[in-house]
Amino acid sequence: MSKRRKVSWPDRMRASIGYCLGHPLYRLFSLIPDWEFGLADHEVTRQAHRHGVLAGCRAVHITDLHIDRYSPRHDRIVQTVGELRPDWIFITGDLLNVPEGVPHVFRFLEQLRTIAPVYMTLGNHDHYSGVPVAQYAELADRHKITLLVNQSTIIETERGELAVVGVDDPSLHRADLRCVPTRANGRFTLLLAHAPNILDYVEAHHAIDLILCGHSHGGQWRVSGIPTFWLPPGCSGRVDGWHESGQHRLYVNRGLGWSFLPFRWNCRPEIAVIEWIGE
Ligand SMILES: [Fe+2]
Repeated sequence: MSKRRKVSWPDRMRASIGYCLGHPLYRLFSLIPDWEFGLADHEVTRQAHRHGVLAGCRAVHITDLHIDRYSPRHDRIVQTVGELRPDWIFITGDLLNVPEGVPHVFRFLEQLRTIAPVYMTLGNHDHYSGVPVAQYAELADRHKITLLVNQSTIIETERGELAVVGVDDPSLHRADLRCVPTRANGRFTLLLAHAPNILDYVEAHHAIDLILCGHSHGGQWRVSGIPTFWLPPGCSGRVDGWHESGQHRLYVNRGLGWSFLPFRWNCRPEIAVIEWIGE
C-alpha cells in the first residue's frame, strides 16, 4: 500500500495457521466429497453505478471460489454468468484452498473466459495454499486470463477508458496502491481487492471510482438475532453490500465458496452484476 507495512507477527502466524489447516481439512472433506450445505443455490444481485463513461456496460463480479474440486454447481454458476451476458468478469481472489485445486479452478476459469474477458486478483487462501504467484501468473497467461497482482491495465471502450487495478490481498498487507493510475478525463478506474480493509488504505488522491471485494463470505453462517460471528481479519466489520469512505465506494460480495467447513447457513452464495448507467 502507499502506507506500506511490514508483515506483523500476527499476520505471519495467521498465514502459517491457514497453510497448516488447508491440507488436513481438504483430506477430511475428500472423504465425503459430495457433502456441502447451503452452497448449491446462488443468488444474482444487481448493482447500478452511475458513470457516463461506461453507461450501458455490464460486468459480473464473483469472488471466493475456493474450488478444490469442480462440482455440478460450478457448471450452474458458469451457465448463470453466461445468461447475464457481461462485458467483463471480475474475480477478487480466494480461487482455491489447496494446490490440488489448481486444475479445477482453471477448468472453471477457462469456461468463464469463453463468455467474456476475465480479470482477477489473489486472496489470502491463494497464498496459504503455497502455490507461487508465478505459477498463477503462468497459468493465467496460458488461459488468456488477466491476473493483476499490484498491477493495472487499461481497456478501451467506445466511450472512454476502463482502468482495472488489481492489488494483492490487503488482509495480508500485500496490497500496494502505487499501481493505481493517475486521474484522467474519460476514464473509469475499478479497483479489485480481496479484503474490505482496502477501504481503510485508499486515500483522497487515489483516483478510484469503484472498489470490488469479497473475503467476508457474508459471515458464512448467519443466525438471526446473533451478530455475525464468522468474519476473518481484514473485514473491519464490513459483512456485505455497499460501504463508503470519503469519495470512495466499495462493494462487498458474499462470494461463492466456503472456508474451514463446506457449510453456509442463511447466507446464499452471490453473483453480483454491476450495471453502469448514465449520470
Ligand atoms: Fe474466502
